Amino acid sequence: MKGVILAGGLASRLDPITRVTNKQLLPVYNKPMIFYPIEALVNAGITEILIVTSGFSAGDFLRLLGNGEALGVEHLSFTYQDGAGGIAEAISLARPFVGDDRMVVILGDNVIGGNIVEATRRFASQPRGAKVLLKEVENPRAYGVAELEGDRVVRFIEKPQDPPSNLAVTGIYFYDAQAFSLIEQLERSDRGELEVTDLNNAYLERGEMTHDVLEGYWADCGESIDHYLRACNLVAEHGANRTD
Ligand code: DAU
Repeated sequence: MKGVILAGGLASRLDPITRVTNKQLLPVYNKPMIFYPIEALVNAGITEILIVTSGFSAGDFLRLLGNGEALGVEHLSFTYQDGAGGIAEAISLARPFVGDDRMVVILGDNVIGGNIVEATRRFASQPRGAKVLLKEVENPRAYGVAELEGDRVVRFIEKPQDPPSNLAVTGIYFYDAQAFSLIEQLERSDRGELEVTDLNNAYLERGEMTHDVLEGYWADCGESIDHYLRACNLVAEHGANRTD
């Protein structure tokens, strides 16, 4: 299984602090933000990792991470997304790296208290398809949200005005290689992006999407400056990527 971390995007919600560098290079408590998704992957035994980045500071990821050895990465690759055409567009750039293998995609601004060890194991034993990790949140309008009938997810909705549940889709996604051909069939949304929510709905329609609920805290540092601050405080108080 390969790991893919998305570290592009415009990060306009954290302006002005993202004017001169990429969001994922900013500190979260005592480490650069990008260390947290890398550690989550390495904890789960995923040591072949591709970082998709963009913008003027893309070279700083190489300067920060080198070959990744210090963080336990065995094979670290980088690629570059021109512009910010959406999370699904960024995932499509991983095709040459992932090939026919499976992947865990983590958004470079997501920080978790627990780990993805068990979810990765469960996905590996799934015959095909995809898995998302859900988390109860207070402000579901800010995220992709799962609509459920009983225990079954029937639809994912991106940033709904009227959320059908308070279960957000976290930025941790498990996909088989079908993702690349499914992304080819997506159309751009009103904001001009290839949406990860549309990719997840495509898997759902095929009956090939599973979900788990993420244990421990989850923070999307890019959601707002207050969420960024909350992430720093959570890490300071509880640590991150805990395996105990
Ligand atoms: O964090 C979870 C949420 O992430 C999900 O619940 C939403 O369904 C999903 O759309 C996404 O929402 P955000 O509004 O947080 O996405 P954002 O544009 O902030 O991008 C998240 C990460 O993906 C960020 O680290 C940058 C990277 N990215 C984003 C875009 C649009 C790219 O690498 N390329 C892109 O084109």
